[in-house]
Amino acid sequence: MASTLRKSLALLKAPANSIGFQVRSRALGRKCRIALVNESKTVLFFAHKGAVRSRAQRREAELRKRYDLARLHAQSSLLHYAENLALLDRLEALFVEVAPLPGSTVRAMDIGSGAFQYATALERFLGRHGKSAPRTVELLGIEIDGNGEYIDGHTRAQHATAHANLAGRGAHYVVADALFVEMPPQDVVTMFYPFLTRYPLLQWGLPLGKFQPRRLLRRAVEALRPGGLLVVANQTGTEFERLRSLLAELPVQFVRQCSFASKLLPYAEKTVDRIGSVWMRASK
Ligand SMILES: C[S@@+](CC[C@H](N)C(=O)[O-])C[C@H]1O[C@@H](n2cnc3c(N)ncnc32)[C@H](O)[C@@H]1O
Repeated sequence: MASTLRKSLALLKAPANSIGFQVRSRALGRKCRIALVNESKTVLFFAHKGAVRSRAQRREAELRKRYDLARLHAQSSLLHYAENLALLDRLEALFVEVAPLPGSTVRAMDIGSGAFQYATALERFLGRHGKSAPRTVELLGIEIDGNGEYIDGHTRAQHATAHANLAGRGAHYVVADALFVEMPPQDVVTMFYPFLTRYPLLQWGLPLGKFQPRRLLRRAVEALRPGGLLVVANQTGTEFERLRSLLAELPVQFVRQCSFASKLLPYAEKTVDRIGSVWMRASK
């Protein structure tokens, strides 16, 4: 966890973040399609040792088959492939006692999608949870800061759109403030690692004015149909407690929580405190 000194020093970033964000937001979104980099998966779990590696390999084979990950397997970096596996692994654990989503179509939005590198895992899980034949998924990833350039010269939005395209026809991505995106009532809203304190927001490069966890959570809950599910992942137990206290003000009921630590990731040791949780929108 960041020390008080580091948190105070992070405040010095606020003016530069603000200017940088304004400049990026004015940039015209570039539309050209990009090809995602593929890496051979033969070395996927080489950093893992002995029995841990064998378990990870077995789990990968199981998830690849169950969630039809052939396209992702053939068109992803090692890191992104591992991140998709880890998300599927943790979503399965989190939803173990959660009733299958009803209906033949699932409408879902993901708030704060970053580069949406996990779009395939999310699309596949929503399409298959509790079902033998996949249902249709309409998934929208929303990201407020999509115009920044990556080291390869392409923008976050270009990468994210490529990840959405890889996930399937029902997956989309927009650069927008989720507070102002109008959507029909959603079956599921996901938020993976939302900023609930100022420090990670400043480290990420957003202006302090965009630190609005209470409003964003309200927006997420209000976007759900009655009975719809809010799925959140937090980096630490402290963040999870903050989430719990913010959601106590809103019409949702706690359903389940579980560890979101994953041994399938190359940075597994950094995930040990992660917690995933599911909340249900109350009828009124
Ligand atoms: C810690 S990052 C998580 C990114 C992604 N969910 C992941 O797991 O890799 C949080 C993201 O939320 C985005 N965000 C913050 N406020 C937002 C808002 N009002 N609308 C849309 N996105 C927002 C940030 O720009 C950032 O990309």
